[in-house]
Amino acid sequence: MKTLFTVRDMQAACRSLRQTGSLGLVPTMGALHDGHLSLVRRAAAENDAVAVSIFVNPTQFAPGEDYDAYPRRLAEDGAKLEAEGVDLLFTPSVEEMYPSGATTFVEVAGLGDRLDGASRPGHFRGVATVVAKLFHIVHPDRAYFGQKDAAQVAVLRAMVRDLLFPLQLVVCPIVREPSGLAMSSRNLNLSAAERDRAGALSGALQTAARLVRDGETGAAALRVAMLSQLSSEDGVRLDYAEVVHPETLLPVADTLQGALLAVAAWVGQTRLIDNLLVEASSAERPQPASLPEPIEEMHV
Ligand code: PAF
Repeated sequence: MKTLFTVRDMQAACRSLRQTGSLGLVPTMGALHDGHLSLVRRAAAENDAVAVSIFVNPTQFAPGEDYDAYPRRLAEDGAKLEAEGVDLLFTPSVEEMYPSGATTFVEVAGLGDRLDGASRPGHFRGVATVVAKLFHIVHPDRAYFGQKDAAQVAVLRAMVRDLLFPLQLVVCPIVREPSGLAMSSRNLNLSAAERDRAGALSGALQTAARLVRDGETGAAALRVAMLSQLSSEDGVRLDYAEVVHPETLLPVADTLQGALLAVAAWVGQTRLIDNLLVEASSAERPQPASLPEPIEEMHV
């Protein structure tokens, strides 16, 4: 595995790999867990070569958010990626990605202000900007993102469509701990007690999944169920629990055409998110005899 630190070196290394085959990109902010590694493995299965970026992007953190506290584990991450057979690791400095005087940003209007974009103003502007830069540097055939960041996926899909990026955006399922907790680099910042409390997020979604399996299609009822579970957990402060369209992120009245059930909450100082996709046909499909537990991939 080659590690590249500058935009110019990364561009040259990617150009040379693309001459011999397809290139997959996995953009990350590091502190890699099995969720990230599932993206890397998928990229390796679908491409001739794989590039991973590790860059804690300052522009997607608002002042007062956890930019400084975001976990950084570069040596461990490098070893994990080496073991996966990754070809290129790109770890640029902030100055490389944002040259002095940089004032150009990518804004996905509307979508960028919904869900996490509403709670974290400017967050998706930072995400879209840095991902557009990575796409320009790497020119990947495919780029891999996790479904856990469902709003990010919607924003980036719109950006790829609108800015005509010639690549395929591949979205991979949420990877969960045995408790159901969605894997996240931010889980590293949770104490043991907070980790237990964090189970409230997947718990709320499991409750909603049960209701959907029992035939509930009303967004209001699903929202109330999620809200009541999240707000009854000590030490968990609700940010949002919404039932929205997976592409527009706008609220829907029911799940008949498919819906994204999305939750966000602070557990101590750590903000966590999770979600569940309800497929359009759920209401019509014969109901399974029992709910599989624990949920591997929440998808009903
Ligand atoms: O999902 C993330 O880790 C980040 O938002 C991303 C896509 C790497 C952009 O900084």
